[in-house]
Amino acid sequence: MKTTIRKGANSLPINEILAGDCIEVMNALPEESVDLIFADPPYNLQLRGDLHRPDNSKVDAVDDAWDQFDSFKVYDNFTREWLKAARRILKPNGAIWVIGSYHNVFRLGAELQNQGYWILNDVVWRKSNPMPNFRGKRLTNAHETLIWASKNEAAKYTFNYEAMKALNEGIQMRSDWVLPICNGGERLKDDNGDKAHPTQKPESLLHRVIVGTTNPGDVILDPFFGTGTTGAVAKMLGREFIGIEREEKYRKVAEKRIASVRKFDKDALRVSTSKRAEPRVPFGQLVERGMLRPGEELVSMNGRSTAKVRADGTLVSNDVKGSIHQVGAHLEGAPSCNGWTYWTFKRDGKHVPIDVLRQQIRAEMQ
Ligand SMILES: C[S@@+](CC[C@H](N)C(=O)[O-])C[C@H]1O[C@@H](n2cnc3c(N)ncnc32)[C@H](O)[C@@H]1O
Repeated sequence: MKTTIRKGANSLPINEILAGDCIEVMNALPEESVDLIFADPPYNLQLRGDLHRPDNSKVDAVDDAWDQFDSFKVYDNFTREWLKAARRILKPNGAIWVIGSYHNVFRLGAELQNQGYWILNDVVWRKSNPMPNFRGKRLTNAHETLIWASKNEAAKYTFNYEAMKALNEGIQMRSDWVLPICNGGERLKDDNGDKAHPTQKPESLLHRVIVGTTNPGDVILDPFFGTGTTGAVAKMLGREFIGIEREEKYRKVAEKRIASVRKFDKDALRVSTSKRAEPRVPFGQLVERGMLRPGEELVSMNGRSTAKVRADGTLVSNDVKGSIHQVGAHLEGAPSCNGWTYWTFKRDGKHVPIDVLRQQIRAEMQ
């Protein structure tokens, strides 16, 4: 457990749990030094009296001192200060996730916008196994909201679009996530067998956040570390973490938990990348390298059109000349066309998409 922060260039307290108030600790960290912040701040639940189940057992609600604020104003001041401290330490292309319930999430969202953060999405974490509404006076509170925001509007934040799609079985990931609350073996217990922390978040939630919005080696800071869910998942996924937690009992739980986490195999950490992020290969390169010869005929995938390859990497079809995309679009009467998937060439009597040649060149580049 470290309470002091080493100063100087690149002296980030990587993979450490820092003791103290997160505002003070973040203010002592170097400016623009972390890639992502995941923050699960106090909810400010304002509980009035104990809550009981129908069998009269007491509900283990969040009534801890760390969740008590005298008024909305005090909570808002606290929110302003920690979000300001967080923004200072974010790299220019950094981003933040905050999670909250209806008690606090609107206040968090407003302050994020006030400070110049740029909201990218709000995600509804729909709990597949929520706690019932025991009094039967309101709807079952079955979700929490996460807000994902970049440091500012211009930030080139990380989003592993293809990886998120792959996680969702090939369908674009939506902003409503159905995941169970933290239960069973994952729920950490104290020496008496009671919950070690009232608001331990599920690792599945952090897995999705970290895979989707960071890269291996990135530094993820969690200013309200609790049991260290962020640190545990970051370590598994080959990311660096910095945790800040005020309460010693939670720091101890988190430290023990993270020490027992094993990093996943390096190859398993590579995720599907965005097609847009792949290196650009001009069609002309295929001609220069002799993979296609000037004068060679290309046939459209639907078999309706043909064009000839020219020495400068353009195509000609009757009186139309241009790039593989332009000629394809013209022949189809379409506003645009992806020439890479439209055109085929003939080898050994078979029509092969020209994209196969592009993939060959890309594979050589890796
Ligand atoms: C909602 S819980 C976070 C739980 C955590 N996400 C997990 O999965 O275990 C908030 C935590 O922030 C800590 N905390 C509250 N105010 C703090 C402050 N000003 N500085 C540092 N930690 C604080 C509390 O002790 C509590 O453990």
